[in-house]
Amino acid sequence: MSKPLEGIKIIDFTHVQAGPACTQLLAWFGADVIKVERPGSGDVTRTQLRDIPDVDALYFTMLNSNKKSLTLDTKKPEGKEVLEKLIKESDVMVENFGPGALDRMGFPWQYIKELNPKMILASVKGFSDGHHYDDLKVYENVAQCAGGAASTTGFWDGPPTISAAALGDSNTGMHLAIGILTALIGRDKTGKGQKVAVSMQDSVLNLCRVKLRDQQRLDRLGYLEEYPQYPHGEFSDVVPRGGNAGGGGQPGWVLKCKGWETDPNSYIYFTIQGHAWAPICRAIGKPEWIEDANYNTATARQPHIFDIFKTIEEWLADKTKFEAVDILRKFDIPCAPVLTMKELANDPSLRESGTIAEVAHKERGSYLTVGSPIKFSDMKPEITASPLLGEHTDEVLESLGYSSAQIANLHQQQAV
Ligand code: COA
Repeated sequence: MSKPLEGIKIIDFTHVQAGPACTQLLAWFGADVIKVERPGSGDVTRTQLRDIPDVDALYFTMLNSNKKSLTLDTKKPEGKEVLEKLIKESDVMVENFGPGALDRMGFPWQYIKELNPKMILASVKGFSDGHHYDDLKVYENVAQCAGGAASTTGFWDGPPTISAAALGDSNTGMHLAIGILTALIGRDKTGKGQKVAVSMQDSVLNLCRVKLRDQQRLDRLGYLEEYPQYPHGEFSDVVPRGGNAGGGGQPGWVLKCKGWETDPNSYIYFTIQGHAWAPICRAIGKPEWIEDANYNTATARQPHIFDIFKTIEEWLADKTKFEAVDILRKFDIPCAPVLTMKELANDPSLRESGTIAEVAHKERGSYLTVGSPIKFSDMKPEITASPLLGEHTDEVLESLGYSSAQIANLHQQQAV
């Protein structure tokens, strides 16, 4: 089956997570993605947190599927020459080096554009161009702190907290992918490429939009009615950490289920959606609360929301998280079990949909990865293994017109 991005050639000059997550997504959808890596070592994630000696680490294999690997020292003249040829033939170049690295290498945007006016250069940096921190190198957790996620995550009596979700890395990569696809459509209209830049700080902040909403409400009102601090606690002049509170119009909390004393994940997330109040009361055996003036509106419930959650926990005490959700789903109550990575890895629905994919790898045997979270009616992305370091060097050089003798010569000059 032909894929929508077939025919789009991408120079993948990325490393670690933010850039690779973007190019991997585009490769799943059919783009020809050539990962350019430093000879001898390659992407640092090949060796980070290895679980099998001398075999590419899962960190690498799970972010670089469906790609080719070309080893090239782009600081040496002969490597530069290959990169120039590639730029002339490609549609997109994606990079997430530290600030200024591409310029120092001799490939500023101005030059790339000269080599190929149709080229789309897509960059990830920690902070946007012109920001007072734009010289900083940035990793995931740094971005979570800079983008407002950390100050608003965790409990009010604990420190700012990092989310396990890659809000700084993969999230930025997804933003970049949207930028690239937009620039490709723009190029169809104008015939010209352009530079697309996404910063990790901006991408985190984009996902923290509701917290900026809350800051403005707090400035105006002095309190936030859906936070656990309301109405008994105190507010300062900044959005507080709200623990596990629901962020929108419906209060929610993580509630204990049967076995929580020994199983740290025996919990469900329970949401008290306004219009589901009557079904909730019926489900938990409190029909008298349906019409009770102390409970029958969201405003009436809020002062004793934690007493309500406590009552629900009493109802949950003899039910596992799965049993509880099976009951609550019949009452149309928004809820879910707190799932572990082990449970997700073995979830038959996720296997069936391709969200958890098992991939065969030349050296490590098979491994699990997260497949495309985006589903299409006419295409099912097939996940293939990540490339070994330099696996496609000769193939790519041949496609650029290099003879066998020239390729052998290049290998010698590039040797580390
Ligand atoms: N051939 C020759 N040189 C290469 C090369 C290749 N194939 N690939 C990379 N290099 C060089 C770079 O040009 C750079 O050279 P420099 O000495 O002029 O700086 C050098 O390798 C180091 O690159 P850099 O990206 O700065 O790596 P780092 O390990 O010091 O920093 C990050 C890593 C992630 C902190 C940094 O790249 C960064 O801030 N990136 C932008 C934000 C980002 O994406 N962060 C999240 C990643 S998940």
